[in-house]
Amino acid sequence: MVWNTWVRWNGLCGLLAVVMVLCASSAWAKHADTPTKTGIVLALFGSSDPAVQSYVDAFADAVRQAHPDAVVTLAYTSARAREALRERKKPAPSVAEALASLPDKGVRRAVVQSLHVMPGREFHDMLRTGNALRGLPKGLQDIRVGYPLVGTPDTLGETAQALLESVPQRRKSDAVLFVGHGTEHVGGLAYPALQYALWEQDPNAFISVLEGVEGAERGVLSAEAALRHLKKSGVKKVYLAPLLNTAGVHMKEDIVGPEKDSWTNVLRKNGYDVVEVRRGLLESPAVREIFLKRINTALGEK
Ligand code: CO
Repeated sequence: MVWNTWVRWNGLCGLLAVVMVLCASSAWAKHADTPTKTGIVLALFGSSDPAVQSYVDAFADAVRQAHPDAVVTLAYTSARAREALRERKKPAPSVAEALASLPDKGVRRAVVQSLHVMPGREFHDMLRTGNALRGLPKGLQDIRVGYPLVGTPDTLGETAQALLESVPQRRKSDAVLFVGHGTEHVGGLAYPALQYALWEQDPNAFISVLEGVEGAERGVLSAEAALRHLKKSGVKKVYLAPLLNTAGVHMKEDIVGPEKDSWTNVLRKNGYDVVEVRRGLLESPAVREIFLKRINTALGEK
């Protein structure tokens, strides 16, 4: 009886052990069978202008073509742009929402590619979002953030070249003035860095910004500074181009267009022949190429 119980008990234990091993191995097998996909979140500021969405979507398609196995989604860092998109019944996730949706699609590692011009507030917020969401239970194990258009010093030259190629009609004896958004964030130092890189390749290429330099003494990047540089260069004709990846309201109201104090009118008032370049940089193949490279760099990082 005692012996019998012991044998039975022992047998039960053995059986239990076998069942446990089987369960564990099948759970492991199931886990190993699930392919780990890569996610690419393309994060842009966003625009309330519907015209912008067509080339943003076209760029997302180009990324899907370059990375056919990846899950590619767009995300918007501006709450106002998300609201405008939702009103038009378009998907409008924030970066956090886009990242949080990826594990259910089998994604374990993701790249958030910044589609901003420079590493300002939006970019630094994305770094924090990525850090907060990395390594959560059943979540993304690896989140990397790809640099914006003006990224690291070693890529300044190619970015400047891509910008110049984005205005192909221009002759070198004409000037080109790129007008960016501007910021008070330390990341705004990317603008003068880009100006330096442009001058290395083309002395008639200039950068100015809309915001963040008001009242600055000696006016680096200001409208006054741009006019000063243009005057010194002696050019008569100026190509006026937004330094914005997606050019919506700021382009139409502040840079080009009929508004009294638009850049077009300020330049015309100062005697320049103005050619308006009405496009967002993401429409330019050379700039798109830069962003495709940024994604590859982020994917390849250890
Ligand atoms: Co703005």
